[in-house]
Amino acid sequence: MTIAISSLTKSFGPTAVLRGIDLSINDGELVALLGPSGSGKTTLLKIIAGLDWPDAGGLVVNGQNWLDLPAQKRRIGFVFQHYALFPHMTVRDNIAFGLSVRPRAERPGKSVIAAKVTELLALLQIPHLADRYPTQLSGGQRQRVALGRALAIEPAVLLLDEPFGALDAAIRRDLRRWLREVHQQTGSTTLFVTHDQEEAFELADRVVVMGEGRIEQIGSADQIHDRPASPFVARFMGAVVELPVTLRAGRAEAAGLDARALERRAMADGPAQLFLRPDAIALEADPASPWVLAHKSSNGAMIRASMRRADGTEVPVDLLRHSAPDLTLGTAYRLRPLTGAVFALDGIAQSDAPRPLPILKEKRQ
Ligand SMILES: Nc1ncnc2c1ncn2[C@@H]1O[C@H](COP(=O)(O)OP(=O)(O)OP(=O)(O)O)[C@@H](O)[C@H]1O
Ligand SMILES: [Mg+2]
Repeated sequence: MTIAISSLTKSFGPTAVLRGIDLSINDGELVALLGPSGSGKTTLLKIIAGLDWPDAGGLVVNGQNWLDLPAQKRRIGFVFQHYALFPHMTVRDNIAFGLSVRPRAERPGKSVIAAKVTELLALLQIPHLADRYPTQLSGGQRQRVALGRALAIEPAVLLLDEPFGALDAAIRRDLRRWLREVHQQTGSTTLFVTHDQEEAFELADRVVVMGEGRIEQIGSADQIHDRPASPFVARFMGAVVELPVTLRAGRAEAAGLDARALERRAMADGPAQLFLRPDAIALEADPASPWVLAHKSSNGAMIRASMRRADGTEVPVDLLRHSAPDLTLGTAYRLRPLTGAVFALDGIAQSDAPRPLPILKEKRQ
């Protein structure tokens, strides 16, 4: 199924939650929707599912206008952010649910449903849990059942809203790998919401970065890392170091900065802002540099160095411990970024910072 979303907008009262979303998803693609809390991810999924309607815009799936189609007719598999299985039903019955409630004319026979459930239990790697009730399952097992329930109807589109949100990191990693395999086998066109970058990049063919109701960038992990499209994306991807620089012939220059590893930008000469991730900066001893090592600590794998300038500015630098040079406190080093993004000063506003939309307070007259 191909999904074509065009100029989609949605407001709740005075708050614009989706501000013109354009997104095309290919048949069988697994797309991750990544963005901070409140950026409109769940709202977009609900509109695709038919649980909410946009104010304007289009939603066309395989050439059919879905905005005319009620939720029941859309064949959506949805695993919600806060998902509850039916507590009074066994795993088997939970998975069979979507098929067994179909109108009689469309409902498969009992033995067909049973065979489908058996097949899904195997795919989900939980045949041994078939007769348990939800309270007798771990969180990770429940999420598998929830996914089984969504897959049972052979959905045209699979929508997953932070399906692993509540689980701990190790289980999330397992489930991620497993979900990729399930996706490869079922080939469902899938939209997966997360606010975890690692999860988005490990799972998805393409990642869509959303901020405050807009799509900020669409791309692969490498593209988004190396060429963030906006200061918002750079900050969201962890570029917490922002340094004023001067651009000359497309190259960032500043005292104690060696940006020769960065590709030249097609931007006018003049003042600009350089965005760097602490783990993409190397240090080289340089007595002429204004950056002095003020502090260092190790967590075993990484060394975190704090570089300080006389004006009090601090830059954190994360180095792999085993390949880091010997660093001496009080010594001057120049910063040599390995990757980074440069934006013109006029394009950078504080409002670009990734943060949730302000909580809407009741208007007082
Ligand atoms: N029914 C509603 N009425 C009013 N405001 C709403 C409603 N649903 C969502 N919102 C607001 O819309 C904005 C986007 O919400 P949404 O749930 O889509 O965000 P999200 O990206 O899924 O966030 P999270 O990562 O926290 O789940 C939020 O500011 C939220 O408060
Ligand atoms: Mg949400």
